[in-house]
Amino acid sequence: MGIFTKKPIGKLIQDAEVGEKSLKRTLSAANLVALGIGAIIGAGLFVRTAAAAANYAGPSVTIGFIVAAIGCALAGLCYAEFASMIPIAGSAYTYTYATMGELLAWIIGWDLVLEYAVGAATVGIAWSEYLNKLLEIFGLHVPYEWSHSPFEKMTDAAGMVHSGMMNVPALFIILMLTMLLIRGTKESAVVNGIIVISKVSIVILFIVLGWSYMVPANHTPYIPAPTTYVDSQSVSHNFGGIWGILGAAGVVFFAFIGFDAVSTAAQEAKNPKKDMPIGILGSLVVCTILYILFAHVLTGVASVNDFRTQGKEASVAYAIKTYMTGYGWLANLVTVAILFGFSSVILVMLMGQSRVFYSMSRDGLVPKVFSDLHPKHSTPYKSNWIFFVLVGAFAAVVPGDIVGDMTSIGTLFAFILVCAGTWILRITNPEIKRQFKVPAVPVVSTLGILVCAAMIAGLGWTNWARLIGWLIIGLVIYFAYSKKNSKLGKENDTNLKG
Ligand code: ALA
Repeated sequence: MGIFTKKPIGKLIQDAEVGEKSLKRTLSAANLVALGIGAIIGAGLFVRTAAAAANYAGPSVTIGFIVAAIGCALAGLCYAEFASMIPIAGSAYTYTYATMGELLAWIIGWDLVLEYAVGAATVGIAWSEYLNKLLEIFGLHVPYEWSHSPFEKMTDAAGMVHSGMMNVPALFIILMLTMLLIRGTKESAVVNGIIVISKVSIVILFIVLGWSYMVPANHTPYIPAPTTYVDSQSVSHNFGGIWGILGAAGVVFFAFIGFDAVSTAAQEAKNPKKDMPIGILGSLVVCTILYILFAHVLTGVASVNDFRTQGKEASVAYAIKTYMTGYGWLANLVTVAILFGFSSVILVMLMGQSRVFYSMSRDGLVPKVFSDLHPKHSTPYKSNWIFFVLVGAFAAVVPGDIVGDMTSIGTLFAFILVCAGTWILRITNPEIKRQFKVPAVPVVSTLGILVCAAMIAGLGWTNWARLIGWLIIGLVIYFAYSKKNSKLGKENDTNLKG
C-alpha cells in the first residue's frame, strides 16, 4: 500500500490497550506536570540564553523568549488536543500517522530523533560545561581536550592553543541516565520530582537576588541595531533588530522543548484524556514566566561581550561569580542544581526518544528490537542501549551550538506538522470525541505554523541545510526499509489480495 496510508484512530487506541507489550500506567497529572517541567528547564535556559544574547539579540533575547513561547503555546494547544484524543505513546509521530499518512509519519518520527536524541546530546554537553565549574571549586578540572569536541579550539592565557578531542563528561552522564532509565519510569519519576523542585528554586533565587545587580548599561539599547556578528567558529549571525530577535527565538526555543515530551508518556498516564492537556499546558505556562524574568536578569547582570568571551560557557555561574559579590555560595549552589537539573532533562529526552521508536517499531517502521521490553522492568531496554550509542556519539564529538540548533530546527518542523495535523483531523474525523478542543482551529493552527516557520527562518541557512540533509537520510531509510516492513502496509496488501 501507498505512502499515504493512514492508521485508523480506533485501531491506534486498540493497539495500545491490548497485548502483553503494553507499558504500565503509573503517572498522575501532577507527575506529568513535573515530568514536563523536568524536561523543560535545562540547557535552553542556563546555556542557550547566553548564546542567543551573544550571537543574535543582546538583552532583547527576552523578546525572543516571548516569540518562542507564543509558538509553543499555539503548538502546545494542538498537542493537547491530540494527546487528549489519541492517548497513546509516540507523540507527534502517532498523531501524524493518523492524519497525514505513513510517509509523513515516518518523516516526523525521524525528525523527532533530532528533538529527543540530539537534544539529549546538547544537554549532555551543557552538563559537561557546568561539571567543570563544579570541579573548579575543588581546584580541579577536566582538561579542555577531554571536555570538548574535536571541532572546538581555545587559546589559553599563556597563548597555547588547545583542540578538543572528545567530550568525556557528556558521554558519562548519558551512560548513567541510560542505566537509570532502563530501571523503569516510576522510579525515574520520583527522582525527577526532587530535581524539579531544586531547579525551580534556583531559577527563582537567581531572579530575586540578581535583580539588584542589574546594570542599566547592559540593557542599553534593549534591542541592538542590526549588524552581523561572526562567532569564534567563523559562523556569521544576524545580530540585532528583528532578525536578531527571531534568531534568538529559534535558539532559546530549545528552552521550551520538552513540554511535548509529556505526550510521549500518554500510554503511561493514569487518566490520559484529562491529564495530558493539564500536563502539557501547565508546564508551559510556569516555565514561560520564569524564563522571561531570568533572561532579563541575566542580561542585566553580565554583558553581551561577557557571553562572547569568558562567560560563554557555564554563563550563569560566571555571571554570579563575576558580578554578584558575596554570592559565591549561590554560584556553587546553582552549579550543583543545574547539574541535577540537566540530568532530569536528559532523562526525559532519552525516554521520549525510546517511546517514539517503540511506537514506530510496533508499526513495523523500524526493527522489532526497538520494542523489545525488559522482562523485569518493562522498559524498552534494547532501544535505550542503541540510543545511548547514537546520543553518546553526538555528545562526544559535535559542538554544543550545532547540536542545539539542530534540535531547535527539528522540533520546530515537528510542531508545524502537529499544527497542520490538528486542523486536518478536524476536517477528516470530526466525529472523534476530543476531551480538549483547541479554540478557533484554523486561526490557531495557522498562527502556530507561521510563528514556528518564522523561527526556522531566523535560524539561518546552515541550519536549514542540516535539517534537509537529515530528512534526506530519513527518506532513504524509509524507502529502503520501512515501507516494505510497515505492518499497516502489509495488512492492507493482504486485504487487497484476499
Ligand atoms: N528544554 C530543555 C532544555 O532547555 C530541552 O534543556
